[in-house]
Amino acid sequence: MPQQKYVIDKLISAKSIAARIEELSHEIEREYAGTQKLVVVGLLRGSFIFIADLVRELDLPVEVDFVETSSYGNSMESSREVRILKDLRGDIERRDVLVVEDIVDTGHTLSHVLHLLGSRRPHNLRTIALLDKPSRREADIRADWIGFEIPDAFVVGYGIDYAQRDRNLPYIGKVRFTDD
Ligand code: IMP
Repeated sequence: MPQQKYVIDKLISAKSIAARIEELSHEIEREYAGTQKLVVVGLLRGSFIFIADLVRELDLPVEVDFVETSSYGNSMESSREVRILKDLRGDIERRDVLVVEDIVDTGHTLSHVLHLLGSRRPHNLRTIALLDKPSRREADIRADWIGFEIPDAFVVGYGIDYAQRDRNLPYIGKVRFTDD
């Protein structure tokens, strides 16, 4: 449970998210036109809603797989040490792999996962992030496709949590602590 009371200010509506995913899906379809080998890899748990909506917009043959990395726990700060809690089920050698991340913050999570998956000799490895907080970046990394750039704020909703809460909000909101 979070320690302090907070309210959530809406930042990105469900409608805007859906419209942006539709745009991105067209770009991705163009990029992977003709491929029979696409594996879409969601990073658990924050990307579960994004990947579900994204693959339903993709008019391509896709396989879906997941990796789970260690998270912030109940804190709002990255530990910078990334551990793999659950690995892929499938082999990605010679496959086109699209990694789906909820937020790129410091970039350590995505950088670690790309390193790991890259060592398995995929045909190519690309990334999509729903949200990007470029001002917080520590690792030298940028996703190939980005839904929205956001300022340095702690956000929740649309799969993204604060201490395991608020993943089920249909929109993205900003956490604001209150005094009482
Ligand atoms: P990074 O390794 O610092 O880039 O952190 C990436 C992961 O931290 C994301 O996949 C999220 O799970 C989590 N994260 C980063 N920013 C936020 C936030 O604003 N709210 C909730 N989780 C976040």
